[in-house]
Parts: sequence; C-alpha cells; structure tokens
Amino acid sequence: LSPTDNSAYYNYNDYCVIVIDVLRASTTINVLLELHEKIHITEVENIDNEMYKDKFIKFGEKNGKKIESCDYGNSPLEVRLNKDNILNQLNNNDNTNNKEILLATTNGTRVLKSIISDNIFIGSITNAKYVADYVFNVANEQNKNIIIIPSHRKGMFAIEDYIGAGLIAKYILKNANKYDITIDIENLIPAINLVKSDWKTKIINSASAKNLKNLGYEGDIIFCSSENTQKIVGMYKDGKIVNIKKI
Ligand code: MLT
Repeated sequence: LSPTDNSAYYNYNDYCVIVIDVLRASTTINVLLELHEKIHITEVENIDNEMYKDKFIKFGEKNGKKIESCDYGNSPLEVRLNKDNILNQLNNNDNTNNKEILLATTNGTRVLKSIISDNIFIGSITNAKYVADYVFNVANEQNKNIIIIPSHRKGMFAIEDYIGAGLIAKYILKNANKYDITIDIENLIPAINLVKSDWKTKIINSASAKNLKNLGYEGDIIFCSSENTQKIVGMYKDGKIVNIKKI
C-alpha cells in the first residue's frame, strides 16, 4: 500500500485487514505489546507535538534512523534490551507520572492510519501463525473477507512484506483446509509459492535489510525474520494499537 501522501485513506470496512511491515514496524509493535497493553501511534512529523510532551516514552524512526528527540528508535532488539527501563517508565512505583508508549515510523504506522476498517490487525513474520489463526476466526464469525496489506516502502515494493503476507496466507489456508472451508486465494498464490523457497535469504538481500545493515541494525533483520516467535496479536483502532491476544 504505502501511500506517499498522509491524507490518503483506504476504505476496507467490509474486510478484516492484516497490515504488515516486517522490517520493522509490525515486529516492534509486537515486542512493545509484550510490555504494555496499548501503543499510541502518530505521524513522524507530529512526534514532537506539545500534546505528547512528558506523557509518553517516544519510539520513532525516519528512514530507519532513530529520530533524535525520541527515547528509542524503531528497533525490536533495542526494545528487548531496554525492557527493564521501559517497564520502569511505564509503571512508576508510586503510580505518579506513569507514561504511555508513542510510536511513529516512516511507513508502517502511516499505512495503519490510512486504513478505514473496524478490524485492523498487525501482522509480522514473528506472529504469522497467531495473527492468521485469530483473524481467520474473526472473519468467519463476521462473515467477512480477509485482506493482507504489505506496507512496502513509500510506493516501492518491499519483498519482506510480500513474504510476510505469504506466510500469513499459508496459515490462513491451513485453517480453511482444517475446517473444510473453500477460500479464494488466487491473488496470494505467488506469495505462498515464494515462502516455499529460501525466503530468509531474500529478506537478508532486500533493500530494506541493506539499509538497516548500513545503520548497524543487522540483529533486527534476523529478529524480524524469525517465524512464530511472538504469540501476540495487536489490533489498531482510533490511533491506538491494543493487545487483544496474549496467547
Ligand atoms: C517503517 O515503518 O518504515 C519501517 O518500520 C522502517 C524501519 O525499519 O524502521
């Protein structure tokens, strides 16, 4: 999807939507949801807005680089390494001055904000099976179709998001076969075929991974490519992502 314009909106109200930004927004969101039940998101341009001052632990990147005024960048590994500090800031001992989490990224959070639907979920390689299982059930209950949206990079194709889509589609298909439900996956066949190949090498060689490597975030590439390591599902609504399934 990756709209280049912040004012673009896409109406997917008839669908259950899974948004994917493998490197790295979706993965960072899932790691943050392990620490806290709620993440506020905003645009990169608004992260320094007065209304966010003192109330938030700020996570933000622009083109992969940490935004200077933020406490942290958009690195899942950095979040893991600073887990105790972040938890301390979130849950102050005397409950005064407790902070919330605010995240802004170049593509992932922008794509999330551009979608209109009551059912928007966060998909990554790290939660591929769990998000697929959860959304399959929601779609079945609500009699809706599922759309998987790779965020991509400002109008440019990003193979890692397409691979993420293929992995999630593979698990959705497994569910359909298990319950003997016929689904139309024609659009997803190339992505499903792609994940039968050596997809990890394709991610390592991707343009996004090369950018991260140049910035010293090599560890994030491995972290974000680890399948089903996070039993978590986040749902986006009204500027916030909430943890709906800690499995
Ligand atoms: C994004 O949202 O554009 C990405 O997650 C960029 C990044 O790797 O930080």
